[in-house]
Amino acid sequence: MTGPALGAGLDGRSVLVTGAAGGIGRAVAVAIAASGARVVASDHPAADLAGVLAALPGDGHRALPLDLADPAAIGTAVGAAADDGFLGLVHAGALLRREPVAAVTPESWDAQHEVNLRGTFFLVRSVGEALEARGRGGRIVTFSSIAWQSGPILGSDAYVASKAGVVALTRGFARSLGPAGVTVNCIAPGQIDTPMQSRGNTDETMAATAAACPLGRMGSPEEVAAVAVFLVSDHASFVSGATVNVSGGLLMY
Ligand SMILES: NC(=O)c1ccc[n+]([C@@H]2O[C@H](COP(=O)([O-])OP(=O)(O)OC[C@H]3O[C@@H](n4cnc5c(N)ncnc54)[C@H](O)[C@@H]3O)[C@@H](O)[C@H]2O)c1
Repeated sequence: MTGPALGAGLDGRSVLVTGAAGGIGRAVAVAIAASGARVVASDHPAADLAGVLAALPGDGHRALPLDLADPAAIGTAVGAAADDGFLGLVHAGALLRREPVAAVTPESWDAQHEVNLRGTFFLVRSVGEALEARGRGGRIVTFSSIAWQSGPILGSDAYVASKAGVVALTRGFARSLGPAGVTVNCIAPGQIDTPMQSRGNTDETMAATAAACPLGRMGSPEEVAAVAVFLVSDHASFVSGATVNVSGGLLMY
């Protein structure tokens, strides 16, 4: 991560980052570590978290394997993550299965909603409880997609429905955790150059979406990570309940 330091207030704190082995989550982990915080890097147990830790600047980072589809494991994992300097959560982990509407099965619907919507609810609730118990306020950032507002494209219907739910949950937690000094915000990315973006997609549709963006390109994971760092920093102390559009103008409203 290069550029201006956005991470005021992160030095010496710790932040739980989910999806840390993915495109955006990994960039978030690097940017938060570069701001002086310890990263608790979490992803599915099958993911290469050792490789993520090796890429992080600074010391004190930890790996935390967690299946977001397992609600019973979430509370235990948050308990392990929440050390004395715990600042909060950047929750980038998610599951997208692109498939035509006619091909969506109850199993596929459930798999995406269990990770993206149910997982977000229990994870944010647990982190909120840990932050309330510490009494120092905190920061929580969730991830939706601009498609929560513009509507599903390219076979993302079940996923986008879950991501619309994430916006609603974020607003509810912003209300319930606000009195404890915890801000809760959501990032809604547009087309970002990650494994999720290309999975089940074609070069033609990806190029067409990039061409529809005023900036004429996909965003990079680092450009999204910079917004996440801002939201967990001191600079965003009066931002809560927001859904931040990071799409290069692909969506305007
Ligand atoms: N890339 C984009 O264009 C784009 C657009 C809109 C929204 N988003 C959102 O941004 C966030 C990051 O996306 P990305 O592009 O980096 O995706 P990615 O696929 O590169 O990374 C997602 C990570 O989530 C993890 N994950 C999936 N299922 C899990 C489970 N059951 N338990 C724990 N971890 C699990 C994966 O292992 C992966 O490392 C996601 O919430 C995604 O919905 C991305």
